[in-house]
Amino acid sequence: MKVTVVGAGAVGASCAEYIAIKNFASEVVLVDIKEGYAEGKAMDLMQTASLNGFDTKITGSTSDYSKTANSDIAVITSGIPRKPGMTREELIGINAGIVKSVSASLIEHSPNVILIVVSNPMDTMTYLVHKTTDLPKNKIIGMGGALDSARFKYRLAEAMEAPISDIDGMVIGGHSDKGMVPLTSHATRNSIRVSEFLSSDRLEQVAADTKVGGATLTGLLGTSAWYAPGAAVSALVQAIACDQKKMFPCSTFLEGEYGLNDICIGVPVILGKNGIEKIVDVPLSEAEKTKMQESAEGVTKTNGLLEL
Ligand code: 2OP
Repeated sequence: MKVTVVGAGAVGASCAEYIAIKNFASEVVLVDIKEGYAEGKAMDLMQTASLNGFDTKITGSTSDYSKTANSDIAVITSGIPRKPGMTREELIGINAGIVKSVSASLIEHSPNVILIVVSNPMDTMTYLVHKTTDLPKNKIIGMGGALDSARFKYRLAEAMEAPISDIDGMVIGGHSDKGMVPLTSHATRNSIRVSEFLSSDRLEQVAADTKVGGATLTGLLGTSAWYAPGAAVSALVQAIACDQKKMFPCSTFLEGEYGLNDICIGVPVILGKNGIEKIVDVPLSEAEKTKMQESAEGVTKTNGLLEL
């Protein structure tokens, strides 16, 4: 199993590290445009192998996509991250050109690759890959909901003073501060609805904190987060690589599902060896349906900024 991660910055390197430590991939190739940077990160990570107990071979390449040839899965993290006060959508001007070029280079050397898009604005970047490549839609996956759901579970556990392992919850919709749709009505603590433990006001605060989870960290860190984004995308890679048939909310191209067309947005999907193997139709409350529609309007507006 060969995995390429484009972008050896904090998110990409964290993703590569988590993939290596989980030891399901034979090879991880890190690619970056900065001379020697990917090679250095790869060497540093390889020097943790005996300490962290993995046999995955991590290599680095400065913009040489021949080194990525025959990758089974490729993750695109390249592009500029947010600064405090910025929205993800403000990154489109620079990141669209990068994602278009990177996806073309990856596919040139790995025609059967499954692409996972992380670069922001992620839903629009995922849509861009659909519109500028010939990859089938099951092989183009946007990572946002897996990260947002992890933040949702963190906030729910915090509110209930419960271990996160007791919590289940999912966030669908756009990966944007205003567009996320935390499915509070479906969230549980050990199969018990969280509304049995938390007031509606407190649940609203949990949802609000979840939606700005990325912005909160950008304010604290001065740049976008990387540990949880890296962990979230490594979980998607593992589900595909190991054919786990796991359900995650991922940005995927919709053709009528959830009443939406010609858009990439976060919905529950089953991930396996073929990438997105099934889109799962989850019953939504009327309020959740409305929020999903509003979220889609926001993503479509950002898509309109693309020069396709
Ligand atoms: C985040 O929410 C980088 O969009 C990513 O942290």
